[in-house]
Amino acid sequence: MRIAVTGAFGYSGRYITERLLQAGHEVITLTNSLNRPNPFGTKVKAFPFHFDAPEKLREDLRGVGTLVNTYWVRFDHRLFTHQQAVANTKVLFSAAQQAGVRRIVHLSISHPDSASPLPYFRGKAELESSLKALGLSYCILRPTVLFGKEDVLINNIAWSLRHLPVVGMFGKGDYRLQPIYVDDLAQAVAQKVSEDRDETIEAIGPETFSYRELLATIAAALGVKRPIISVPPTIGYWSCRLIGLLVGDIVITREEIQGLMEGRLQVDAPPLGTTRLTDWIARHRDTLGRRYTSEMARRVDRASKYRSN
Ligand SMILES: NC(=O)c1ccc[n+]([C@@H]2O[C@H](COP(=O)([O-])OP(=O)(O)OC[C@H]3O[C@@H](n4cnc5c(N)ncnc54)[C@H](OP(=O)(O)O)[C@@H]3O)[C@@H](O)[C@H]2O)c1
Repeated sequence: MRIAVTGAFGYSGRYITERLLQAGHEVITLTNSLNRPNPFGTKVKAFPFHFDAPEKLREDLRGVGTLVNTYWVRFDHRLFTHQQAVANTKVLFSAAQQAGVRRIVHLSISHPDSASPLPYFRGKAELESSLKALGLSYCILRPTVLFGKEDVLINNIAWSLRHLPVVGMFGKGDYRLQPIYVDDLAQAVAQKVSEDRDETIEAIGPETFSYRELLATIAAALGVKRPIISVPPTIGYWSCRLIGLLVGDIVITREEIQGLMEGRLQVDAPPLGTTRLTDWIARHRDTLGRRYTSEMARRVDRASKYRSN
C-alpha cells in the first residue's frame, strides 16, 4: 500500500517509516523539514506540508491508502502554537479525505480532554473528535511519553542527574508515567495501517513509574548519586527556566508540569509495548544524558537530523 507518514525525518515518524518499509509498503512523507537528511534515500519521497495550499496537499495525497499523522507541536511559542497545529491538522485531514485516503492512523496523547485548560490536551481532544467526524476509517493511538535514542525527556533527566549537583522534582513526585519505546509504537502503527476497525488505543509501555521512581531508576542505572529533592512546582519551573537559558532551550513549560502532576501520563489499560524502560536504560547507560537534547534546536534548525543520544 502507498502510505503517507508525516515527519519521516523526525522522531516517531522515522521509526514508523522504517517499519512500514520493512513490511513492504511504499512510503511518502509530508514534512516542514525537506532539508533534513533523508535516511531512506530514494525509497521515501518528501513533500512539503502545504497547510496554506490544501489543493497541493490533496494532490500529494492522491493514491495514498493510509495517512499516518504524527504532526503536532510540543508547546505554545512565538514561532508555533497548539491552535495553529489544530487548524493545520484539520486541513490535513480534510485534504486526505478529498484525496480518497481510506484510513488515518493518528498519534494523540493519553487523557486528551476538551474541558482542560491545557492546550496540548484540549487540542488533541478536538482533533480526535474531528477525525471521528470525518467518516474515514481511523485508528487513534494515545502514547504517554516515548523513549528511544532521539528522545528528549528521559535523556534530559539523565543529563540533569549527570551534570547538576542536585536534582529537583515537582512536588512530591508521586504522579505516574508509563513510557513506551518508540519502536514498539512504530510496530503497532505498522500493524494498524492495513486494518479496517475504528479504534482508540492507549499506547503505554509495560512499566509504570512514579516521577520520583523514574528519577531514582535512571540515577541507579547511570551509577550517579545525587540528592533528589521535592520542590514546589513554581520553583521547579523557574529553575528549569534558568537551565533553559544556559542550554538555549525551553526545558519544560508550566502547562507540561501541570499535565505531568495531574497524572495525565498514566492510564488504566493493558500495555501495548513490550520493551521495558529499565532494560533499555541499562543498555544505553554509557551514552544516555551525556549531552543535552534541545527541543528548540530541532525546531529552529530544520536541516540537521534529530541527534540520537
Ligand atoms: N515524543 C513524545 O514523548 C510523545 C508523547 C506523547 C505523544 N506524542 C505524540 O506523538 C506524535 C509524534 O511525536 P514526536 O515526538 O515523534 O514528534 P516529532 O517527530 O518531533 O514531530 C512530528 C511532526 O510534527 C512536526 N513538528 C513538531 N514540532 C513542530 C513545531 N514546533 N512546528 C512545526 N512542526 C512541528 C514535525 O515537523 P517536521 O516534519 O518539519 O520535522 C513532524 O512532522 C505527536 O503527535 C505527539 O503529540 C509524543
